[in-house]
Amino acid sequence: MSRDTPTASLDAARSGPVPRHVAIIMDGNGRWAGRRDLPRWEGHRAGMSSVREVIEGAAEAGVAHLTLYAFSEENWSRPAEEVDALMALLEEYVETQRAELSEKGIRVTVFGNLDMLSPAARSAIADLERTTSEGAALEVHLAISYGSRGEIVEAARALARRAADGELDPDDIDAERLASALYTDAWPDPDLLIRTSGEMRISNFLLWQLAYAELYITDVLWPDFTREHLFGALVDFRGRDRRYGSVRT
Ligand code: IPE
Ligand code: IPE
Ligand code: MG
Repeated sequence: MSRDTPTASLDAARSGPVPRHVAIIMDGNGRWAGRRDLPRWEGHRAGMSSVREVIEGAAEAGVAHLTLYAFSEENWSRPAEEVDALMALLEEYVETQRAELSEKGIRVTVFGNLDMLSPAARSAIADLERTTSEGAALEVHLAISYGSRGEIVEAARALARRAADGELDPDDIDAERLASALYTDAWPDPDLLIRTSGEMRISNFLLWQLAYAELYITDVLWPDFTREHLFGALVDFRGRDRRYGSVRT
C-alpha cells in the first residue's frame, strides 16, 4: 500500500491550532542507503539533516514538544559496526549542533536506558542537556536506548518498592501515579505520532503515552523527510476528529 506524502507551507501549518506535542519514529535510514548502494551508516548520517529540519520546522510552527525516537533498546541487537556508527554520529551531532540549538532556544533532554551507553556518549548527552537547559522556544526529547515495555516495568517496580516500604498504599496507584513514574512525567502526551518509511507499527515506542495520539504514517524515508513534510502532517492533524471514546453532542 502506498500512502500520500503531502507537503505544506509554514503559513498553512500555522493557519490554525498546532499539536502541542509531536512524536516521530524516524525510520528508513537503512533503506535510503540501500537504494543508493551505500552502507547503512550513510543513511544514518543523511538522517541527521532531517533531524535538524524537523527541529527547526517544529519551532517555526509553534510546536511545544518534539520527541524523536533515535535508538531503541532492541536496536542494540544490530551488528556492532552499525551500533558503533550510530553512537559516533550521536557524539558528532552533539559536537556540531550544541551551540546552534542553544542559540535558537531549543532545550534538549534525552531519555532511555542510558546505562547501556559508553561513558563518552553519556558525557556528550549530559553536555547537550546542560548547554541547552535554558531554551524556551521548543523542547526536544530524544529517545535513546529506549523501550516502552522496559520503561513501564521500571515504573511498576518503583511503585512496588514504595508500597513495600509502606510509603504508598497500593489502592492509591492510578493512571496518573503510574504516568508520573515514567520518563515522560513532565511532558504532555503526544498529540500526533509520525512514522516515516511506511511501517504500520509502534516498535515499542511510548506505548502508554500514545493512548490517544493521532497516527500519521508516510512512505517518505527519514533522510528525505523535510520540514514541509512535517508541515503537511500538521495540516492533516487539524482535520482529525479526536473523540477520546466519547460522541459529539
Ligand atoms: C531508523 O532507520 C534508524 C534507527 C532505527 C536507528 P533504520 O536503520 O531502521 O532503517 P531501515 O528501517 O532499515 O530502512
Ligand atoms: C524503530 O525503528 C526505532 C527507531 C526508529 C529508533 P526500527 O527500524 O528499529 O523498528 P522495526 O524493527 O521496523 O520494528
Ligand atoms: Mg527501521
